Amino acid sequence: MTTRTSTPPPQSPLGRQLAAEIPGLEVRDTPEFLDAHSRDHTEDLQFLPDVVVLPANTSQVSAVLQWASQQRIPVTASGAWTGLSGGALPVKGGIGLSTKRLNRILKIDELHHQLVVQPGVIVQEMQEAVQEKGLFYAVDPASRGTCTIGGNLAENSGGPRAVKYGVTKDWVLNLEVVLADGTIIRTGADTLKNSTGYNVTQLMVGSEGTLGIITEATLKLLPWPRYNALLLVPFSQAADACAAVAGLFHDGNQPSALEFMERAAIELAMDFTGDRQLPLADDTAAHLLIEVDGFQEEDLMPQLERVAASLERFNPSEPLMAMDAAGKDQLWNLRRKVGEAVKAHSTYKEEDTVVPRGHLPALLEAVKKTGKAYGFESICYGHAGDGNLHVNILKGSLSDAIWDESLPEAIRTIFKEVVGLGGTISGEHGIGWVQKPYMNVRFSPAELALQRRIKDAFDPVHILNPDKILPEDAGNSRETA
Ligand code: LAC
Ligand code: ZN
Repeated sequence: MTTRTSTPPPQSPLGRQLAAEIPGLEVRDTPEFLDAHSRDHTEDLQFLPDVVVLPANTSQVSAVLQWASQQRIPVTASGAWTGLSGGALPVKGGIGLSTKRLNRILKIDELHHQLVVQPGVIVQEMQEAVQEKGLFYAVDPASRGTCTIGGNLAENSGGPRAVKYGVTKDWVLNLEVVLADGTIIRTGADTLKNSTGYNVTQLMVGSEGTLGIITEATLKLLPWPRYNALLLVPFSQAADACAAVAGLFHDGNQPSALEFMERAAIELAMDFTGDRQLPLADDTAAHLLIEVDGFQEEDLMPQLERVAASLERFNPSEPLMAMDAAGKDQLWNLRRKVGEAVKAHSTYKEEDTVVPRGHLPALLEAVKKTGKAYGFESICYGHAGDGNLHVNILKGSLSDAIWDESLPEAIRTIFKEVVGLGGTISGEHGIGWVQKPYMNVRFSPAELALQRRIKDAFDPVHILNPDKILPEDAGNSRETA
C-alpha cells in the first residue's frame, strides 16, 4: 500500500467545512496551491478559486456537488490547464475541482474496440496504451502530451487528425456524469448505435463543465493505421495555399492531417524550439503540412503522389517529404509549438475561427483586411482541412488603450465575416470565458434563450462553472454581417 505524503489541513473556513463534510476528500487551500489552479493557456488571465478539491472517485465528486448545490457555492472543474478559452478558470471563485486523481484507464476492450477512462487521463498516455494493443484513438490536440481527456471532452477538442477522423465528440459512446445536485447518471450505452431518447452524451461533450462533471467516458477506437508520411509544401502566396485545401478534397484526396501555417508561424516556432534546420526560402509566404496514413507502408507513396499532382495547379514551391520518424517528429514538433511560440513572442489574443474549407481564402483575406483597418498584425495557422484557422492577433507596439478599446470591435468584425461565410466563432477551443461576449454574433436571442433553458434544466442554481459560454444578456439581437 502506498502512503500519500501528508497534505496540510485546510485553513480557510470553506476548506475546513468541506473537509469536515466529506471525510477522506483531499482539500487544498494554501496560496501556492490556489495560484497553481488559477491560470490556463488563455492569454494572461488569472482567477483564483477559494479552495481546490481533488476527488479520488465518483462518490466524492457527487458529495462535493451535492453540498455545493445546497450551499450555492460555484464548482469549476479542471484538467491540465491547457485550455484556450478560459473554460476551466474559476471566474466566480468557490471550489476548483481538479480531476488529477481521477486518472485511471479503466478498460481497453480489444473485442469491441472500446476504451473506458476517467477524466484525468493524459491523452497521449491513453493513445500509447491502446496502440500497444494495435488500436487507435485518433483525436490528437497539439497539447496531447499534457492535456486530459476530461478537458478534451469538455471543450470538444480537435487537433490535426480531425480532418480524417473527426473531433472528440465523434468518439464518445457513453459517459458517467455527476449532475449539479450530486446525482450520478449515465448518458448513453456502450454500443455503436443508439437511438434511444435525447442524446445527452453529445449535449455533455463541449459543455465545458457547465451542465455536469464527467467522471467516466466510454470511447470508440479504431484499428491503428501505423504508417504515415508528411509533406511540407511551401507557397509564395498564402491565398494559393488556402485555395489548395478545398482543391485537394475535390480531387478525392483523404489526408490524415492538413495544416496551414503562415511564414511567421513557422519562423516563431523555429525561434522558440531552436530548430532552424528547415530550409525557408525568401519568397515563402505560407506552408501546408500534409499527412497521409495507412495500414501498409506501400499505402503511402500513391497517396503522396496524388496529393502532389492535385497541388500542381496551386503554384506550390518544392515540397519537403518526411517518411522517417526523426523527420516527421521535427515537422510535427514545429507545428505543435506554434501556439506556445506566439505566446512567448507577444501579448496576443487568439481566435478559433472556422468556415467551410472552400472559404478559407476569403477568411484569411478578411482577417488581414480587418488587421489593416485596426492597425494590428496577425499570425494565422491551424487545421486548414477543417476550415479551422487559429487567428493570433498580436499586440506588438499597439498602446494599451487601443488594444483594450479597439480589439473587441476588431474581433467582432472578424466574427461577423466568419458567420457571413457560413462559419462559427470556435472550432475546437470552446467559448469559455473569453468568447462569451461574441455568442450573439453566431446565435439569435431565441437560440441563446434555448441554450439558457438547457443550462437551467441541468443546473438550476447555477453552481457549475458559472458565467461561462452564455452571455449575461440573451436579449441582444443577433448581429448580422
Ligand atoms: C493548435 C492549438 C492551438 O492547433 O489548437 O496548435
Ligand atoms: Zn488547433
